[in-house]
Amino acid sequence: MEELKTSIKYPELAIQANKEEMLSNMAEFIQPRKTDVLLDIGTAMGDAAFALADHVKTIHGIDINPKYLAKAQKMATEKGIGNIEFKIGTADGLEFPDDFFDIVICRLAIHHFSEPVKALSEINRVLKPGGKFEISEVVYSDFVRSQWSIINHLKEPYDRLYTYLELVHMLNRAGFEIISIRPFNYKTYRGVTKWLNTWFGEGNNEPKERMKDAILKLDKRVLEEMRFTKDPDPEQGWVWYYNCMEILSVKKAKPA
Ligand SMILES: C[S@@+](CC[C@H](N)C(=O)[O-])C[C@H]1O[C@@H](n2cnc3c(N)ncnc32)[C@H](O)[C@@H]1O
Repeated sequence: MEELKTSIKYPELAIQANKEEMLSNMAEFIQPRKTDVLLDIGTAMGDAAFALADHVKTIHGIDINPKYLAKAQKMATEKGIGNIEFKIGTADGLEFPDDFFDIVICRLAIHHFSEPVKALSEINRVLKPGGKFEISEVVYSDFVRSQWSIINHLKEPYDRLYTYLELVHMLNRAGFEIISIRPFNYKTYRGVTKWLNTWFGEGNNEPKERMKDAILKLDKRVLEEMRFTKDPDPEQGWVWYYNCMEILSVKKAKPA
């Protein structure tokens, strides 16, 4: 780990704050119309939905976590945004009719889905033919993904990283045609300590230590690609960066 410590570029850590910039670029990438009806899957606290609210007619934001949705709803009220409906729902069983949406977005959520293939098939079903599907997702090399999946079972069974090619193949198989790809302009970093607290709680140290040990024992090339470094902020502990990709696809028309 010595080499990694010395390669820390501290000023770069500040870049994590560019979430707003990334969100404001979404509309430019997706090119929504004022008449569009949009579904945001895994909306959490509604960040992406809020960023697009002015650009479309209505938004449905769904998530399996009611606590996040309550916060999203509170924020919508505070912001005076009236065209978003937040409700509980799961990606793999969408409670919407066929050919209903003009746009579906899914930002940093697919790697949490227990049934990603079913979810993509559901998204394809509820989109109108020619409708747009935008994914923002964390992507790493095949090597990193396979190494990381070895330790992911220590946390939750479904959280996994996809490679860019896996995502593209999944989209193609689910009936989408990719029309545009760009690196997701969002260099964030996650503090390992805070991240593990969200999964295991503040006091429960044993599984956190086990997970941290497992991470630090990963192949050096993995730690380099994920840019594991020790944060100057002791609250954070070890940190790593997300590499992200934004993919825009359209629902292919069914053969006549
Ligand atoms: C990292 S958060 C997404 C953040 C949000 N999209 C944004 O842009 O700020 C991932 C979300 O996916 C949700 N999620 C996980 N599995 C889901 C599923 N099967 N259906 C819908 N949402 C799901 C989680 O509850 C969580 O809120």
